[in-house]
Amino acid sequence: MTYNYKNRHSHINIRKKSLSIVKKINKLAYNSTFVYPLVIKDGQGCYLEDIDGEQYLDFTSNIASCPLGYNHPELKKIIKKYGDVGAHKIAGQDFYCEEHCQLAEKLLSISNSNSKVFFINSGAEAVENAIKLAYRRKGPLPGIACINAFHGRTLGALAFTFSKDVQKINFPELPVKRIKFCISDNEPEIDLINDIASEYKVSFIILELVQGEGGVNVASKKFVNNLNNTSIKYDIPLIIDEIQTGLGRTGRWWTYQHYGIKPSILTIAKALQVGAVVFDKKFEPSKPGVLSSTWGGGSRIDMAIGIKTIDIINKEKILEKVNKSGNFLKKRLNELKNSSDLIMDVRGLGLMLGVEFHKKVIRNKVINRLFTNKLLVLPAGVKTIRILPPLVITDEEMSKGLDIFEKVLKEINN
Ligand SMILES: Cc1ncc(COP(=O)(O)O)c(C=O)c1O
Repeated sequence: MTYNYKNRHSHINIRKKSLSIVKKINKLAYNSTFVYPLVIKDGQGCYLEDIDGEQYLDFTSNIASCPLGYNHPELKKIIKKYGDVGAHKIAGQDFYCEEHCQLAEKLLSISNSNSKVFFINSGAEAVENAIKLAYRRKGPLPGIACINAFHGRTLGALAFTFSKDVQKINFPELPVKRIKFCISDNEPEIDLINDIASEYKVSFIILELVQGEGGVNVASKKFVNNLNNTSIKYDIPLIIDEIQTGLGRTGRWWTYQHYGIKPSILTIAKALQVGAVVFDKKFEPSKPGVLSSTWGGGSRIDMAIGIKTIDIINKEKILEKVNKSGNFLKKRLNELKNSSDLIMDVRGLGLMLGVEFHKKVIRNKVINRLFTNKLLVLPAGVKTIRILPPLVITDEEMSKGLDIFEKVLKEINN
């Protein structure tokens, strides 16, 4: 038996237990960014189960934060191990713990071993601390950020987020200069960064190489080169935000490796389970205490899971797999685009893909119908669907999801 529930976009049928929780939460808690009336009970591999026992194929990885899917046996072992550790929620800021040291070592070995790292709880906090490091060195000057960027919702990070009006209205801003995010080498604004840097003093440039929330927009190589060259020429720190794209999502450890550049400061979170800022040693404040937080680094379990996640990506050769799986998905999505009038564009890198529709209403309808057919995807930008499956997804699971996609497009077309 199902019940009709109206979410932001349209009506969806859900079952009894889910409906009761969703209704209660809506009364008790702020209605944040819920996409579906999905109440999660458990997960296995690339599937999530709701409290009514329905199974959903997950093409979201909890916005890229569950790269190994759910219930990975090696991660489960870690959780069990820490179940027996009394002091399990100790973050490495006021006291030391071994996991802090191991995660730092592991993370620097796959990014930049000449750098240093600072751990913090979330992605937005990683961005806060990255910009603080840049301000500390350059002074409180404007930062340069891109239109359609998403760098988080804390007030500092939010100043450099330009994704949706609703995220920003009535909140005070840090000084910022906005530039167009160029997706093609031929855009007229591609050299604008040089004019800005030669005319104004600025404290940093912050950039996602593939904008996630903004619509899965892939930066043009020339654009990124220009930003990188300007950063070097004028000694402006280049902060690369890999909170969504990092740790293998696009088929390399870091998306900046696709562009042949090196960030001055790198922000990481989500898949790592803790927020992190990796920075060139010249940004290290000369005094201790400039950066800290009670729960910085999350907890020992989170750090241990982050360490194991890196090990598993290495051991299971997941980066190679991501490239193959990404090509497979992209090819089939392009076939769907060619056979449907609804889709405008398919784009992305590795297992971070976007399907842009001609109309927002159609995009929303597709998302809801996919949910009804037990496939989870996320919205991005104005009229794009974002596809971020667990990196361990199999060919069969991808085919199953794509078949659902095809069926839904046909239903809507008719
Ligand atoms: C690129 C990017 N930066 C920053 C953030 C903020 O991370 P968090 O939600 O952990 O604060 C996100 C979250 O989606 C993101 O995608």
